[in-house]
This record gives sequence, structure tokens and C-alpha cells, in this order.
Amino acid sequence: MHRKPNKILITGGAGFIGSHVVRRFVKSYPSCQVFNLDKLTYAGNLSNLRDLEGKSNYQFIKGDIVDASFIEALFEKEKFDSVIHLAAESHVDRSIEAPLDFVMTNVIGTVNLLNAARNSWKSNDSDQHLFYHVSTDEVYGTLGNTGLFTESTAYDPHSPYSASKASSDHFVRAYNDTYGLPVVISNCSNNYGPFQFPEKLIPLAIHNIKHNRPVPIYGKGENVRDWLYVVDHAAAIDLIFHRAVIGKTYNIGGHNEWKNIDLIHLLCKIMDRQLKRTEGTSAKLITFVKDRAGHDLRYAIDSSLIRQELNWEPSLQFEQGLEATVTWYLENSNWLDQVTSGDYLHYYEQQYQHR
Ligand code: NAD
Ligand code: TYD
Repeated sequence: MHRKPNKILITGGAGFIGSHVVRRFVKSYPSCQVFNLDKLTYAGNLSNLRDLEGKSNYQFIKGDIVDASFIEALFEKEKFDSVIHLAAESHVDRSIEAPLDFVMTNVIGTVNLLNAARNSWKSNDSDQHLFYHVSTDEVYGTLGNTGLFTESTAYDPHSPYSASKASSDHFVRAYNDTYGLPVVISNCSNNYGPFQFPEKLIPLAIHNIKHNRPVPIYGKGENVRDWLYVVDHAAAIDLIFHRAVIGKTYNIGGHNEWKNIDLIHLLCKIMDRQLKRTEGTSAKLITFVKDRAGHDLRYAIDSSLIRQELNWEPSLQFEQGLEATVTWYLENSNWLDQVTSGDYLHYYEQQYQHR
């Protein structure tokens, strides 16, 4: 199967991963109309996509996926042939503070989109229809010191964030089983790279080191994550979107496990070099703090299915990707200053009214 859609709705395209996906689709498929629907929460920032302004196959729509009548009307008007759904509340620590926000966007918002797609595609007149749900490896819970998550690992979420994503995955599968909605799901490991909001570990650490502030490490820093460069995730999404078998799930991961403390030491070395500081300066900022509640010990992905079936491979070694990420954040200090001051939120409030 090689899909050739004409009109794609991408949700959450002003966020970190979404902006890389939108950029890739707008630039790689000029004959396809790409609609980016985003509420522009604190995590959504249109300056992530400034290079797409004026592109004739790109349109931004400000809107909330929790608003069912707005979503129904949008599908009715635009008649999208496919959806790539990334919009979500995405930060575990925020989910511990405000779980209901995660239920609203990640569960209710996803079901609203599923309903709108189902109503819009009722006549089933095209084999181009696809609802692609982008999810996380965190739905599988935690691993001990060995083993990998496969596509058949049982769901066992521990944080309100991962519970809400697990719930949304179940709804997506249920709409396939019950109504025959054409769906695919991918579950990816931790992403890093340009445009990630500085509440997540790597950009937070870069920001704090740059400003000589403490770098908080939860617990003893023993937790392990499998890191993937965001551009490689966008490439995997492109492949899955165009070539995946309907109803299937793909795990995506970097085969790149790092203990948080080892990752931060590597990052400190790169920061010292790029900031021309004496080696060891940044590492002095490492500060061990109270552990996150329900903190999963280890995530690691078996991505052999997507590698074998779709011939996908990560393109970058982690050291290269981390070096490039540090360079990007240091060269784009305006972006970092803007998103940490919150000014961009007021600017875009004035530019785009809710439709
Ligand atoms: P992000 O927080 O950077 O971006 C989320 C985007 O969704 C923002 O632009 C925000 O404005 C938008 N949004 C939030 N609520 C909305 C609503 N109610 N209506 C419309 N738009 C809304 O997130 P991210 O890190 O780019 O993650 C994107 C997706 O990928 C999420 O579904 C996440 O679960 C998944 N994922 C993330 C990672 C990771 O490491 N970041 C890994 C695997 C999967
Ligand atoms: P994070 O970037 O929040 O991603 P996730 O929780 O989705 O994996 O965190 C990555 C790891 O880093 C996780 O084990 C928690 C840890 N962490 C810290 O030690 N300090 C921090 O300030 C943050 C934000 C995360």
C-alpha cells in the first residue's frame, strides 16, 4: 500500500514533534494540502513553523480538540481524507499536578476526533482514509534492568499522562474493531531535538546550564530512557502514514538507552565545550532532588517490526544528535527566551482567534 492523500489534518502541529511532522509533510508533499490544528497551549508555538509561512499547501487552524461541535464542523467543512493526531498534554510532571487536563485533551479530544472522522468517512468511498494516532512507549509501564517493549507488551501505565495516552490508544483500537475505522498507532520512546519545550529533561538542562542554574536530577538519576532524535521520529511517522497496514501498531525507538545521570554528564561536557567553559564547570550544577512520584525505572523499545517491515533506521548517533541539539538551542536563544518568558502566548492570542 502506498497512500496518496490530498488533504491531511495534523493535530498538535505547533508543538515539538508536530512541528517537525508538519514541516516534513508540507515540504515533501507539495500536492497535498496540510492543515495544522492546534490550540496553542503553553506548548504550542507558531514560531516553530515560521519557515512554512506563505506555503500554498499549508494552513493553520487555531482550535481545541475538546470542543466536539467545532471538530465536527471542521471535518464537515474541510473533508479531510486522513488525520495524523499528535495534539496532547505531554508532560508527566504536569499530569501529576493536573490529571483532568490530560483526560480532557488526551482522551475526550481523541474520541472527538475519532467521532468526527467516523461521521465524515461513513460512505467509506476512499481507500485513502486513515486515522493515525501518535502515542508513547510510556503506555507499557516500566521495565526492570532487562527486556524491551514490543508491540504485544501488555499496557501498564503508571502516571496520569501515560494512563490518558493508554486510554486514547484503546479508543483508537476500539473504533477500528467496532466501526471499522481505518487506524494505525505508533508508540515511540523519548524524543529530543530542536523546538522541545524546556520543561523536558534535555532542553531544561541546556537552559539551566546556560544560565548557571541548578540542573535538577530526580532521585539518584538511575532511571533509563531510550532517546530518539525528533527528525528520525518524523521520518518514521511519514513511512507509517504512507505504507502501514491498517489496524497495525508500530513501536519506534532509538535503541539508545541512557541513564539520566550519564546523559546529563555527557550534556555537561558538550555545553562546556560549546560555551567555551573549563571542563567540569557545568557538571557542578547537577543537583539531586526529590524523585518524581510513580517514576518509571526504565523504558526501552524493540523496534524490529518497523525496521524490518518499513526499512526505517535512526539516522543519527546520539552524541551527534545531542551536539546538534545543543548548537540549535544556543544559536536560537531568542526562541528559548521567548518560550520561557511566555510572551509568545500573548502575541499569538492576538493573531489567531478561535474559529
Ligand atoms: P508538545 O506538548 O510539545 O505539543 C503538543 C501540542 O498539542 C501543542 O502544540 C499544543 O498546543 C497542542 N494541544 C494541546 N492540547 C490541545 C487541544 N486541546 N487541542 C488542540 N491542540 C492541543 O508534545 P510533543 O512532545 O510534541 O508530543 C506530541 C505527541 O507525541 C503527543 O501525543 C505525545 O504523547 C506523543 N509522544 C511524545 C514523545 C516525546 O518524547 N515528546 C514521545 C512519544 C510520543
Ligand atoms: P522527561 O523529559 O520529563 O520525559 P519522560 O518523563 O516522559 O520520560 O524526563 C526524562 C527523564 O528525566 C525522566 O526519568 C525524568 C527525569 N527528569 C529529571 O531527572 N529531572 C527533570 O528536571 C526532568 C524534567 C526530568
